[in-house]
Amino acid sequence: MYKILKLNNIASEGLSVFENGDYHLGDEVTSPDAILLRSFNMHEIDIPESVQAIGRAGSGVNNIPIDKLSELAIPVFNAPGANANAVKELALAAILIAARNIHRAMDYIHNLKRSDNLKSDIESVKKQYIGYELPNKTLGIIGLGSIGIKVANAGYDLGMKVLGFDPMITVDNAINLVPGVKKYNDLNEVLKNVDILSIHIPYTNETKDFISENEINLMKNSATIINLSREEIVNTDAVIKALDNKKLNTYVTDFPNESLIGNPDVLLLPHLGASTKEAETNCAVMVANSIKSYLESGDIINSVNFPDVSLVNDTKHRLTITNLNKPNIVGQFTSLLGKENININDLSHKNYKTIGYTILNLDKPISLKVIEQIEQIDGVIKTNIIS
Ligand code: MLT
Repeated sequence: MYKILKLNNIASEGLSVFENGDYHLGDEVTSPDAILLRSFNMHEIDIPESVQAIGRAGSGVNNIPIDKLSELAIPVFNAPGANANAVKELALAAILIAARNIHRAMDYIHNLKRSDNLKSDIESVKKQYIGYELPNKTLGIIGLGSIGIKVANAGYDLGMKVLGFDPMITVDNAINLVPGVKKYNDLNEVLKNVDILSIHIPYTNETKDFISENEINLMKNSATIINLSREEIVNTDAVIKALDNKKLNTYVTDFPNESLIGNPDVLLLPHLGASTKEAETNCAVMVANSIKSYLESGDIINSVNFPDVSLVNDTKHRLTITNLNKPNIVGQFTSLLGKENININDLSHKNYKTIGYTILNLDKPISLKVIEQIEQIDGVIKTNIIS
């Protein structure tokens, strides 16, 4: 029986992945084998020693201590792309709302006093909220991952000129970009030209204050910035200053903070990017399947700190090994198993950043004595006998 601790509400479609009698799920489970969460801050809790895997039903993992979990050989799974359409749709809404001043106009109407002249008051004010249409305006996208490419393509379909910045774009994502979207490796070239900038990168140490005063100063006057990624990626003080001196026209963010609340030039949302029924279901199902595959077969699918490694599970005897990414380590496993007369029917090994991970399908059970010898190999962090 595997025990799964839930630290947030997870869509029922995802939880049903565990309904085969082999799992016990709950909000108060002790000694869990795996933890499922959404935005719960794991930096502030001790990780139970029993934990083998973490599943984040979403894409951002800044609420999870990834480095510490890598040291403990615990894979963290997320749901890349599962909420991309939801975020794309909110980004499009933000683009349209900002272009037509809808947030300002709505605030004005809601604050109108009752009067006999209501209709004429409304007609007379509309000239204050004249907006612009999207064709031929320039949309800049920072980050051409699963969300960024969708926003870029949709902007292009709306007639916008679209400039994308992502020096690390994957081949798959590059293929999926519509040909009219121009890719740049120089961020400044994008910033200089955009009317609207939409940011779609994860928050890491490297992306803190990615857009700050210098970057905003490069932008055209009266541009709009949309941040549905994470608060810290855009420097709030720089944004407020730029709004005050009319360098920026509008800032849209899914991450309100006290200094932004009440600013009429800021459109604030309560982290709604992935808040659709469809996205919550997709994320929960994707991450639940990854956790189940890992616990039951040792396969790694969609991990942020481990390489993706999977192998057909046509064996009675399977061993997985997590090690530090260093040369000549797999050779030591195979020669040790050979000396013990254990035949390797199939093997898959990959490295990712500091971690190496190996799945071995073996022809016979592996003894604890051999496991101990493997664990003594320099660089091995953890072994796991799956069957
Ligand atoms: C994500 O990172 O997946 C989104 O910001 C939504 C969420 O945190 O749940």
